[in-house]
Amino acid sequence: MSSGLYIHIPFCVRKCPYCDFYSVTDRAGAGNYIDAVLGELKNYNEKFDTIFIGGGTPTSIGKELVRLCEALPDAEEFTVEANPGTVDTELLKALKSAGVNRLSFGVQSFNDNELRALGRIHTAVQAEEAVSMARTAGFDNISVDLMLSTPFQTAKSVKKNLEKVRELGLDHVSAYSLIIEEGTPFYGAELPLPSEDEEREIYWLTHDFLEDMGLKQYEISNFARPGRECRHNIKYWTLEPYIGLGAAAHSYHGGRRCGNAPDIAAYVRGGGRNVGSEVVDENERLRERFWLGLRMTGGIAYNGEFPDEVGKLVKKGLLERADGRIRLTKKGIDLANLVFMEFV
Ligand SMILES: C[S@@+](CC[C@H](N)C(=O)[O-])C[C@H]1O[C@@H](n2cnc3c(N)ncnc32)[C@H](O)[C@@H]1O
Ligand code: SF4
Repeated sequence: MSSGLYIHIPFCVRKCPYCDFYSVTDRAGAGNYIDAVLGELKNYNEKFDTIFIGGGTPTSIGKELVRLCEALPDAEEFTVEANPGTVDTELLKALKSAGVNRLSFGVQSFNDNELRALGRIHTAVQAEEAVSMARTAGFDNISVDLMLSTPFQTAKSVKKNLEKVRELGLDHVSAYSLIIEEGTPFYGAELPLPSEDEEREIYWLTHDFLEDMGLKQYEISNFARPGRECRHNIKYWTLEPYIGLGAAAHSYHGGRRCGNAPDIAAYVRGGGRNVGSEVVDENERLRERFWLGLRMTGGIAYNGEFPDEVGKLVKKGLLERADGRIRLTKKGIDLANLVFMEFV
């Protein structure tokens, strides 16, 4: 079985006030950082069928990102995360020539007032232009991230976002409901957020709209035209092995989980590598198979494990059983955290 390769690029032009991904805005050390990543890659003698370069904002370090992609082997699916405020056709063409075949744009919204409230560095028009530049550069596998239930968002404004997705002919959407993360400027701030009921309305409206246009839900937050599902992310939910390179990247490999420290300076010096390495025993793997696998709409094969927990969740209408599998019901999707807590 081939592994997935994840590379974390911890640089952004500006920090968004809701985000707790590890990244810094001082990009002066990007060249040394990429050298360190290429050094870390040498520790592995593997074949990778998927590569995912995420962040942070990989495209915020332009030429250094291209250098990294050129040095990596080809992969069947090779994704780069991109911020619409950091791309031009030249950069996208260079990424395409370097073997990248999938782009994931952090669009969040096609409404300028929502983008401003999220502290984004780009406008809605720039997001549209980024998608069209990607097509000009030769990309046909393009995904966008949208954020749901953000400040000022309404059912009406979400529809406008979704109509844009349809107009742009996109084949993949990740739709994440806003999480207010501790330690971010949004935490504890007075924000004009939709109520819990509105939040669920926005989620299901998004679900129904995307399904109607042929983008099928395959995970709680992910929708794709059949065949365009993100193979790399599916590896995380189905416990396939992956290796993470870079500061704050995690790996699951050879039956172990480990991660690099979120510290660029230490990483560049060769430190903070593979900390907290632990063997994932049989019991833990089973739990993970449940709480990660149940994120997928197809659910997981079921052979009578956790009979009490599963029985209770089926009785409450949160899980359903069919054809030797279990999966979340609609109610289970709304209360997914309650379901996962049973297996963590
Ligand atoms: C690493 S970013 C994507 C690329 C790039 N950094 C950007 O923002 O354009 C990953 C995605 O996570 C989502 N995200 C980040 N923080 C979030 C939060 N607090 N709640 C929900 N979604 C969040 C956003 O949709 C974002 O596009
Ligand atoms: S959402 Fe993207 S651009 Fe904004 S801070 Fe997080 S990683 Fe950086």
